[in-house]
Amino acid sequence: MPLSGGGTRRGAPVIVGVNSRHVHRTDVTDEIDVSDCRRCEKLCASRSRIVNGVGPTDAALCFVGEAPGEREDDTGEPFVGRSGEVLDGALRDLGLARGDVRITNCARCRPPDNRDPTAEELTNCRPHLEGEIDAVDPDVIVTLGKVPSEHLLGRSVPVTAEAGSVHDVRIAGATRRVLVCVHPAATLYDPSQRETFASALESAVELVDGGGDQSRLGEF
Ligand code: URA
Repeated sequence: MPLSGGGTRRGAPVIVGVNSRHVHRTDVTDEIDVSDCRRCEKLCASRSRIVNGVGPTDAALCFVGEAPGEREDDTGEPFVGRSGEVLDGALRDLGLARGDVRITNCARCRPPDNRDPTAEELTNCRPHLEGEIDAVDPDVIVTLGKVPSEHLLGRSVPVTAEAGSVHDVRIAGATRRVLVCVHPAATLYDPSQRETFASALESAVELVDGGGDQSRLGEF
């Protein structure tokens, strides 16, 4: 089973071709994209737009960040700034393209001045994240940084110490495998985090590969 199934994970017809991993289901996009939300008065006033998740709607690997930054707010796509470059580079090193994985955030609107989303904002946005996870049904969720790790694990998480650790977590009524990772931006501030980041991502890919019904290493 590939990282994204070209529809095959849900019993849709198998699409054969070199790019079949990049041909993905689009029929649930409307379910998981949020076109209007006014739950957070302050974020509604300051945001340019809602930043929905991107990537295959049947991706086996789903990355969850904190919240959009300035570039994400400008473009409407998560992880397109410097953090996104780090993430894309680490995926490339593993033989993956950005389009092979799902990328989303705990909060879909940019907090002003890049502050952390408040507990209330995270709670308000949680149904959107849960709806997306439920629809995409990934094999592994990778939490990028402290905010998403603590939000999904529901406890304090020292991310550097716990990076690469895997947890079974109940999310929206299902048990999900969550792998803790440092935020890609951490590697920009502290180069010693590069190895931590890269090896957590490698573990995530191995987990997807090892958890499937056939080897996928050849596809990477
Ligand atoms: N940082 C995040 O956590 N999410 C983004 O989308 C961009 C930067």
